Amino acid sequence: MKRFISFAWVAALMLLATACSKKVSLEGTWYGLYNKSLATITFSADSTMDLSSEAFSTLSKQGKYSINTQTTPMQIDMEPEGLGMSGEGIFRINPDQTMEICIDFGVPGQIKRPTEINSKQTSMTTLYFMLTRDKESVLAEIAPKVKAPAEARLAFERNKRLGSGINLNAVVDGNLHPGYERDAPLPDSEIKSIANAGFQSIRLNVCWAKHAATEKPYTIAPAFFKKVDHIVDECLKNGLAVSIDQHYYPYINMDQPDENVSYEDNYERLYSFWEQLGEHYKNYPPEVYFDLLNEPNLRMGADKWNEVLNKLIKIVRKSNPDRTLLIATPNLGQHWTLNLLELPEDDWNLIVEFHYYLPHLFTHNGLAYAQAENSQQAVWMGTDEEKAPILQDFDFIQRWSEAHGRPVNMGEYGTVNTVNEASRARYLGFVHGEAVKRGISSHLWGYREVFQIRDEKTGEWVPEILNALNLKDK
Ligand code: GLC
Repeated sequence: MKRFISFAWVAALMLLATACSKKVSLEGTWYGLYNKSLATITFSADSTMDLSSEAFSTLSKQGKYSINTQTTPMQIDMEPEGLGMSGEGIFRINPDQTMEICIDFGVPGQIKRPTEINSKQTSMTTLYFMLTRDKESVLAEIAPKVKAPAEARLAFERNKRLGSGINLNAVVDGNLHPGYERDAPLPDSEIKSIANAGFQSIRLNVCWAKHAATEKPYTIAPAFFKKVDHIVDECLKNGLAVSIDQHYYPYINMDQPDENVSYEDNYERLYSFWEQLGEHYKNYPPEVYFDLLNEPNLRMGADKWNEVLNKLIKIVRKSNPDRTLLIATPNLGQHWTLNLLELPEDDWNLIVEFHYYLPHLFTHNGLAYAQAENSQQAVWMGTDEEKAPILQDFDFIQRWSEAHGRPVNMGEYGTVNTVNEASRARYLGFVHGEAVKRGISSHLWGYREVFQIRDEKTGEWVPEILNALNLKDK
């Protein structure tokens, strides 16, 4: 008996000691999801940590890490290798051996270590991951639910027809950018020049909301329709396919509100616009496509966009059973949210659209609205290091397209014309070339404004850029 008591004591003391020192080892690779795409974190024996997302190259981070197991929840710190963001976070290991981690990245001093493990994204810089060591279980969660039927081929053919195109912005109406608040008529000869340059299609950016009643039934002004029709007709005459875009839509695209329409009515207005557009263009040839909404924003979120897009498709299908539609990805219309899209399982005449502007500080160099006003990144040399993240993103996009049986379109890519011109040509040539290689149709942003690839004064195309795009030699 005495022996048993002393044994029990030793065991209890040992338990207590382990509890106090909480021996936690994170070593190895953990798998989780970021925007429903595979994310991995590898902790190595030399105290380095490697975070990456298959869908979003910008998320990749490497650095030294350290943990503090004495706090509840436990803490994790990360110091970047070279230039990069530091991280301060918290984590816990659950009884089922999953790990949850919530970590804020930024410049030291400005980082806010999360106080609780919250699966909802609480700020743009705070990431949350639910991780497991079992990769297969994570992959099973995101495997495509349906197999594309044979009829899906049509959308791929139509996507080919879009080929390499350009956004015709600031043409049928003005926009939010300084100097372009008013529209400027486009001489027909310029449409010819777009076709002659080798572009195959146009994404026609239209702010329909600016030209329609703010009261039910939200009638689009007939005179405005005439103006748009003229451009559409001219494009078709010149062999350019046209994707009619719903751009600068209040509240749920670029955040700007509409004083005359409430947030909720604004959705009704969008449904009504597509009813009217569907009716108006129903007899146009298949070279006319509909792009349902430009860059659905974060305020709207993925769930709401999925609900709205499914409704919009049904509305358009009443008048246009065979029209090919372009569907933006949620939460800003970029590629890293492809897996958040929920498309109807019985409609395969759809092309999924993403926009590509990475590295952001280069493409948007100097633009305050894009938080790039202090960016020094004005050159892009095309080194392997610069190409690698872009290739990673494009490989992901291609895998997604193949796995889901949905064609994809890069509805916008471009850089401001204030960056080094040779860099610009190199970058645009590379991004466009990678899209072409993968059967991704594209629309360069844009014909006018600061992203244009023409000489602002002469109106002539910048020859280096046109050469780099290699439009006639695909
Ligand atoms: C989006 C915006 C447009 C902007 C472009 C590049 O399309 O709607 O206004 O110029 O992205 O940032």
